Amino acid sequence: MLSVREATVFDLLNMQQTNLWCLPENYNLKYYFYHILSWPQLLQVAEDHKGKVVGYVLAKMEEEDLPPHGHITSLSVLRTHRKCGLATKLMTASHDRMTETFDSHHVALHVRKSNRAAFHLYSQTLNYEIRDIEKGYYADGEDAYDMRKVFKRKEDVLSEEPTPPASPSHEPRPAPPVVSYGAPATGGAAEPPPPP
Ligand code: ACO
Repeated sequence: MLSVREATVFDLLNMQQTNLWCLPENYNLKYYFYHILSWPQLLQVAEDHKGKVVGYVLAKMEEEDLPPHGHITSLSVLRTHRKCGLATKLMTASHDRMTETFDSHHVALHVRKSNRAAFHLYSQTLNYEIRDIEKGYYADGEDAYDMRKVFKRKEDVLSEEPTPPASPSHEPRPAPPVVSYGAPATGGAAEPPPPP
C-alpha cells in the first residue's frame, strides 16, 4: 500500500537521495533543513508498505512578496512508483497545507520545457497556468515554464455552491394562523427564536 504523509526530519536524507536519483537540480542537506524548519507542513513524502520513501515534494512560502504565496522547490517520484497518482497526491497535500496554514493566495513553480510528464501533471491534472517562459533558467541552458495556480478562496467556493430551488408555485400555501377571537393578542410568536 502507498501513502502520503507530512515529512519529518528523519525523512530528509531519503528525500535528498530520491531527488539525486530523479532530477539534475540537487540541493545540500542544509536547504532541506531550512524548508522543514520554516514550513514543516509543506513537505510531504510518499512511502510504500515497508515505510520506504518513494516520492517527495519540497515546498516553501514566499512570505516577503505580497500576496503570500507558495513555491514548489522540487517534486519527484521514483521511476518504479510513477503513474500511480503519487505526485498528484503529494502536490495536493502540499497545496492544502499552503491554504489552510499560510492562507496562500497562489502557488508557483518552474519546470523544464522538455519535461512532458511534469508539464502534464501541472497543466492538465492540477490546473497550473503558464505565466512566462524564462530563457536559459536551468544550468544547462534549457528554458523553464514559470507556472502558477491561483487557489480558490473559501468565499468563492461557498458562493459557487448551488442555492436550494425556490418552492414551486403549485405547492399549497401554508395555512394561515388560526386566530381565536377573544384570546389576548400575543404578537404571533409562540416561542422565542432559536439561539443563533
Ligand atoms: N507522460 C505524460 N503524462 C504523464 C507521464 C508521462 N511520462 N507521467 C505521468 N503523467 C500524467 C499521468 O497520466 C497523470 O495524468 P492524468 O491526471 O491526466 O491521468 C498525471 O501526469 C499525474 O500522474 P501521477 O501518477 O500523479 O504522477 P507521477 O507520480 O508519475 O509523477 C512526476 C510525475 C513527478 C513528474 C514523475 O514523472 C517524476 O518524478 N519525474 C522526474 C522528476 C521530475 O520531473 N519532477 C518535476 C520537476 S519540476 C519541479 O520539481 C518543480
